[in-house]
Amino acid sequence: MLENTWWKSGIVYQVYPRSFQDSNGDGVGDLPGITSRLDYVAGLGVNAVWISPIFPSPMADFGYDVADYCGVDPLFGSLADMDALVARAHELGLRVILDFVPNHSSDQHPWFAESRSSRHNPKRDWYIWRDAKPDGSPPNNWVSNFGGSAWQWDEATGQYYYHAFLREQPDLNWRNPDLREAMHDVLRFWMDRGIDGFRVDVIWHLIKDAEFRDNPPNPGYNEGRPEIDSLLQVHSTDQPEVHDVIAGMRRVVDDYPDRVLIGEIYLPVERLVTYYGKDLSGAHLPFNFQLIQTAWNAHAIAKLVNEYEDALPAGGWPNWVLGNHDQPRIAARIGAAQARVAAMLLLTLRGTPTMYYGDEIGLARVEVPPDRVQDPWEKNEPGLGFNRDPERTPMQWDDGAHAGFSSHDPWLPLAEDYRQCNVAALSREQGSILNLYRRLIALRGASHALSVGSYVPIPSAEPLLAFRRVHGEEDVMVFLNLDAEPHTAELRCRPAGGRILLSTYLDRAGEEVGVKVALRPNEGLIVSATRG
Ligand code: GLC
Repeated sequence: MLENTWWKSGIVYQVYPRSFQDSNGDGVGDLPGITSRLDYVAGLGVNAVWISPIFPSPMADFGYDVADYCGVDPLFGSLADMDALVARAHELGLRVILDFVPNHSSDQHPWFAESRSSRHNPKRDWYIWRDAKPDGSPPNNWVSNFGGSAWQWDEATGQYYYHAFLREQPDLNWRNPDLREAMHDVLRFWMDRGIDGFRVDVIWHLIKDAEFRDNPPNPGYNEGRPEIDSLLQVHSTDQPEVHDVIAGMRRVVDDYPDRVLIGEIYLPVERLVTYYGKDLSGAHLPFNFQLIQTAWNAHAIAKLVNEYEDALPAGGWPNWVLGNHDQPRIAARIGAAQARVAAMLLLTLRGTPTMYYGDEIGLARVEVPPDRVQDPWEKNEPGLGFNRDPERTPMQWDDGAHAGFSSHDPWLPLAEDYRQCNVAALSREQGSILNLYRRLIALRGASHALSVGSYVPIPSAEPLLAFRRVHGEEDVMVFLNLDAEPHTAELRCRPAGGRILLSTYLDRAGEEVGVKVALRPNEGLIVSATRG
């Protein structure tokens, strides 16, 4: 039944493992560290943790270059540490979702070593090899997401291989049935160990044009954008055959009870929703990044929510995200005051919310000096403003040395104000964003309307965003003021008012409101509607 499905009614919390908790004093987070903080995660009231890659890796792209899909990198611990993490999470009622990175492996993966060893190796076809053009240039004009040609010449075997990301991340060939089967075994390996689901990295990339045609130029491209944007990714991503591949993964996942398949997809809404698959045979949740990409105003957000709701296939369950390890943090994008409004939006929209660690303490942009840059994208295309380090900095637990994250200088710097911006301090401060997140999560968990109810927009004018969530007799209204001035919302038809359940200021609970709902600057309100 809908309401009992954990990944529909629940909340996912993303942990970037290098930055959650270091247990062995090397300045980098690890699995025993995460396990030691699971009480905190469960205490927030979320239902699942998604952990970004922890597999053996040369770390060219911080674990998104996997050298063994069925292991744990010693930097993060061991398989036994993972088993212990899963056991503790399950004791606490938390599900564990792993990152699955099937589009490419590391160039250090034994499969790639075999593949590049000779043109006749049985695993040659597990990767994407092509001849040079007659003049020796790459097979087509495709560009790497991190800049430069997406083709790397291999002197020994006289062909190019394709890499959508770093040259250390050769793309796997999902048209090859043996590769598919090997990857399905990887999914089984982790589910047999109790893993509850997967977030599949760049799932829309898995199949490329069979003829490897050139991508057309992007007429809207301008300097200052990453090179990848100079071409429209018409032939390199989002190919029709990808849906068979995803349906294949989904069948494997469905062989196990109660698992979830989440896909990472950066596409416009009308393309995104095709990833639910024919008859919902695709990803349970194709990640919906619209709130990351939108201008932060009421009109734009109301429009995109409506478009998304309208575009969903019958039976498809929505999901919402404010940030992740690839995107500037929400508080950095819209400021501290609106970050609280955003929290209310994320946790009251219809659909599974995914929170990004640190957003609940209002972590904003952490300055990373040039000599401490880690992100390979920034190193390849410096200065364009796409450095991902500022959103990957350590979790700030207390005001002690290294914010309680580590006993060592961490791999990325802490926020300058970490002595104020940390879990311990904000837990004590009654009106803090952390306590707001806790209240929002508790309210959502206790309300069928908020967790699984229908979504009904309430007509309202800029800068107010308003909607209802309805489930049976339960009718909840949400009013969000996206402005730094006070504004009054007016209910033009029923319901004619109600009682405030929560303000983003964490006061006013219990106050009655009528058809006019006064909102303070940057205030969000959840109101239980008076029926009748
Ligand atoms: C995804 C990951 C990102 C990584 C890329 C290549 O977009 O989220 O961090 O760099 O894929 O694997």
